[in-house]
Order: sequence, then structure tokens, then C-alpha cells
Amino acid sequence: MSHIALIGPGAIGSTLLAWLAQNPSHQTAACVRTPFQSIEVETPEKKIVATPRILTGPQDVAGPVDWVLVATKAYDAAGAAQWFPKLIGPQTRVAILQNGVEHVERFAPFVAREKILPVIVDLPAERTAPGRVRQRGRGKVTVPENDAGRAFAELFSGTPLELIVAQDFLSAAWRKLCINAPGAVSAILLKPSSVANDPVVAESMRAIIREAIAVGRAEGATLEDKIADDVVAGYRNAPPDSMNSMHADRVAGRPMEIDARNGVIVRLGRKHGIATPYNEMTVALLTALSNNSNGGKTN
Ligand SMILES: NC(=O)c1ccc[n+]([C@@H]2O[C@H](COP(=O)([O-])OP(=O)(O)OC[C@H]3O[C@@H](n4cnc5c(N)ncnc54)[C@H](OP(=O)(O)O)[C@@H]3O)[C@@H](O)[C@H]2O)c1
Repeated sequence: MSHIALIGPGAIGSTLLAWLAQNPSHQTAACVRTPFQSIEVETPEKKIVATPRILTGPQDVAGPVDWVLVATKAYDAAGAAQWFPKLIGPQTRVAILQNGVEHVERFAPFVAREKILPVIVDLPAERTAPGRVRQRGRGKVTVPENDAGRAFAELFSGTPLELIVAQDFLSAAWRKLCINAPGAVSAILLKPSSVANDPVVAESMRAIIREAIAVGRAEGATLEDKIADDVVAGYRNAPPDSMNSMHADRVAGRPMEIDARNGVIVRLGRKHGIATPYNEMTVALLTALSNNSNGGKTN
């Protein structure tokens, strides 16, 4: 029996917790900010329903669990960490299911680094209401090849999610960042992924990706030049109306993960002496846009 607590049951968190809850040997709990009764996920295969214990604040936590899964947006790390003191004991592992390449650095102020497992989630999903999610395509979850990564992958055995235990997790994380970083262009222009069919826009997207490739390589990732063209082709081939999550966040008036998806390229570029003018401009524009709409919460 594994005791699992998920902090941040939004699109990604609810989907993964619902799949975990289908296994009767898992005891699941959802640590919520906005309460709900149950989780229902429309997956590509079928609708799945789960009734994890709903915890509305750290005062509801009975004691430490085996696994804490964090699936808040990156900018809500400090809020998520308020649950840690009651949930984390000597045996607890903490999986961070967020975009970006700084999973460990983001949570190191709140929990010992060796307890943290970075996780990359490729799973198109959107929340339609608290506890209600539409999973639009198949899900892939990548973890580093180590004891914690293998144990995490084991939690999902029997689910249709594809669990990849990656020897080179660093490169996998930077590849995902190369896909996410140019999504900012859609968020700025308020145009879906088909905007990549415009040759001038496509070249700006490639420039953002090339900077990510250069900085990722300096950080030790193995990244091929052709990623820039492949990613733009991926945006062109996506359903013409598909909206990346940064674009969706801007439309909904929510804060955007600007720092986790573009700011990080600028910051780490500076560390390595690599110029990143396209990402710098992207961060400046998105920050100015979000200052107008949500009081300046941007990362
Ligand atoms: N959605 C996708 O398709 C997708 C795909 C791949 C990766 N990702 C990444 O996965 C991560 C999660 O994204 P998402 O789309 O699932 O976000 P989301 O739908 O906005 O969900 C975030 C959840 O965290 C909750 N939350 C925030 N602070 C909290 C706190 N202190 N305690 C408890 N819950 C808290 C929010 O509560 P409220 O209900 O009150 O807002 C919300 O339910 C992000 O890093 C994102 O970039 C997303």
C-alpha cells in the first residue's frame, strides 16, 4: 500500500491522481486550494472517476505519506510547500510535476534536495471545473533513472500512461523547454499554434529555441540543431486552434509561467555568458502584459 498526497489537483494533478486512484493498493489524498467532492477525467480511453481524501489545509493532514506529488504551477511553489511540514517524514519522496528545468532548485528552499524527484509531464489536459478535467491526448511521463524514478514509474503500472525512465533526464527536460519556450509567441500574439505558419513568426520562434539550445548545451544537455525546425513543424502540425497553456493562462487572466519557461533561459544564459535577446524580449513583453492584467504575478 502506497500513501500518496497530491498538492495542486488541476489539469495535470487531477489526471495523474485519478489514474493512481484506480489502483486499490494506493491510498490517495488531494491537497486542494479550491475544494471539490470528486475527480472526473475524460481520458481518450474512457471517463475515470476518483474519490481521494480531500484535504483543505495542512490541519487536515493525518501524518507523513510515502509520496508527495506537486502539480501546482511553478509560481505557486511557496504555497505548495506550506503542506510539506505535515506531509513529509523521513521516508517521504517528493515528485515535482512541473514545466521547466529547475524542479530541484525551485523546491530546494523547502525540502532536502535528495528527496526531490523532477518529473516531466507531456499530457495535454485542461480543467473545465474544480476536479473536472479533459485529457485531450495520450500522456507521457519522464523521470530520471534512479531508485526514486523507478519507484515513481512503478506507481503508474497498469495505467495507460507511458512512463519513461530516462538515462539522460537533463536533455529530456531541456527538449521539453525547447517546445514550451516558443509557446510564448502565441501568448503575446493571442494566436493559436497555427501562427507558426507565418514565416516571420516561425523565425522568431526558431530564434527563441536556438537560444534555449545554446544555454541547454552549456548546462550539459545534448540537443541537436534540428530541434528548432522540428518544434516549429510540431506547432504547424498541431490542430490549428490548439492553445498552449501559457496562451490559455493569458486568455483566462491567470498568471503565466514566464520565468519557468523563458526567464530561466535568460538567467542561465547570463551565467554562461550567452546572449539571449529573443527570450529577454519575450520576458519583457509578457511581464508588461501581465502587469496590466494580474498585478504583476509573472513567474
Ligand atoms: N495542462 C497541461 O496540458 C500541461 C501539460 C504539461 C505540463 N504542464 C505543467 O504542469 C504544471 C501544472 O499545470 P496545470 O495545467 O495542471 O495547472 P492548473 O490546471 O492551473 O492546476 C494547478 C492547481 O494547483 C492548485 N494550487 C495552487 N496553489 C495551491 C496550494 N497552495 N495548495 C493546493 N493547491 C494549489 C490550483 O488550485 P485552484 O483550483 O485554486 O486554482 C490548481 O488546482 C505546470 O507546471 C504546467 O506547465 C501542464
